[in-house]
Amino acid sequence: MNASDPIPFVDLARVHGPLAGEIREAMDAVIAGGDFILGNALERFESEFADYLGVSEAVGVSSGTTALTIAAIAVGVRPGDEVIVPAHTYIASALALVHAGAKPVFCDVDGETGLIDLDSAAAAVSERTVAVMPVHLYGQACDMDAVGIFASDRGLAVLEDAAQAHGARWRGRRVGSFGHAAAFSFYPSKNLGAAGDGGAVCSGDPAVAKTARRLRNLGQLGKGDHAIAGFNARLDTIQAAVLGVKLGRLDAWNASRRRAARTYADRLPAGVGALSTRPEAEDVHHLFPIRTGARDLLRAELEVRRVGTGIHYSPAVHQQPPFASGTRSPRVALKSAERWAAEELSLPIFNGISEAEVLEVCARLEPSLAAPSTALAGGAT
Ligand SMILES: Cc1ncc(COP(=O)(O)O)c(C=O)c1O
Repeated sequence: MNASDPIPFVDLARVHGPLAGEIREAMDAVIAGGDFILGNALERFESEFADYLGVSEAVGVSSGTTALTIAAIAVGVRPGDEVIVPAHTYIASALALVHAGAKPVFCDVDGETGLIDLDSAAAAVSERTVAVMPVHLYGQACDMDAVGIFASDRGLAVLEDAAQAHGARWRGRRVGSFGHAAAFSFYPSKNLGAAGDGGAVCSGDPAVAKTARRLRNLGQLGKGDHAIAGFNARLDTIQAAVLGVKLGRLDAWNASRRRAARTYADRLPAGVGALSTRPEAEDVHHLFPIRTGARDLLRAELEVRRVGTGIHYSPAVHQQPPFASGTRSPRVALKSAERWAAEELSLPIFNGISEAEVLEVCARLEPSLAAPSTALAGGAT
């Protein structure tokens, strides 16, 4: 590649181009069958995705956010209940709880991984707490052994936010298979993405899955039988058909992300705060975050050098207007979450990114990292 070629932050055309014929065929089959709502391709995809994860059931829903809301209600979260959520995540993790009528209470994250800090979570627990939401952020598997002990010691439900971590493993077991329920997003740029919005609730508990099926379909299980106040939040059959084609490529795409992450880690100086590998975790690198106190300047310099970047996430969730009051425990500082929000910059990584592109990003980063103005001032050490 040439030094002047743009390097996108995400390139969806690259994965869909070679699959376009297969995707169209799958969509055509749905059009021919006319089963657009709760159709055959949806049932097929649910079963294949559940098998892939190693859970008994997956329930296709309209987005990752609705998956979290439905998962929360299905495991028994009720209006007024509190759920512990990391303050460093996408806002959807917390908004989904609000939509379930619950109150998210924020805890801090680990400075190194950006994942839930269980000491901080312990301080955020009150007598109203009913659940904890580990978020497998950036495609990293949370320590689900520690989360499991934390929750069972306190009688809490575990709601996994696996929106960014399709295929990631903790000690060989896929994330999304540990909690009482888990939520995935199929937003197009996710490791497994639809041709539009989509999500799934997964659970090994048939009662939770049954309630989730009911909740996504206006409370209905059988015709005319609306036992609970559900949502219209089904995954379209046509989206499930697209996802069914793409699921077979997920492991290869995750492998391409892992290769890219390894190259970045080998090439970038230690001080950029790239995530380190943990022996128990097989991460799937939904994003590749680095950290610097000169984040905005670095981003602007990379833009000039035609490298696409992203920020995930700023401001921190508890600093966003919907959560300005009432969601913080006075016992819990959110310093690390605020630092991540101030310093994080995501470098290009996506399904099918090439080695040449990653090397070129590293080369274009070099002048900035060498300059005192941007050189990791105040960033991670
Ligand atoms: C961590 C996290 N949680 C929840 C969501 C919500 O998913 P969706 O955009 O499909 O509603 C996303 C993705 O957007 C996410 O990254």
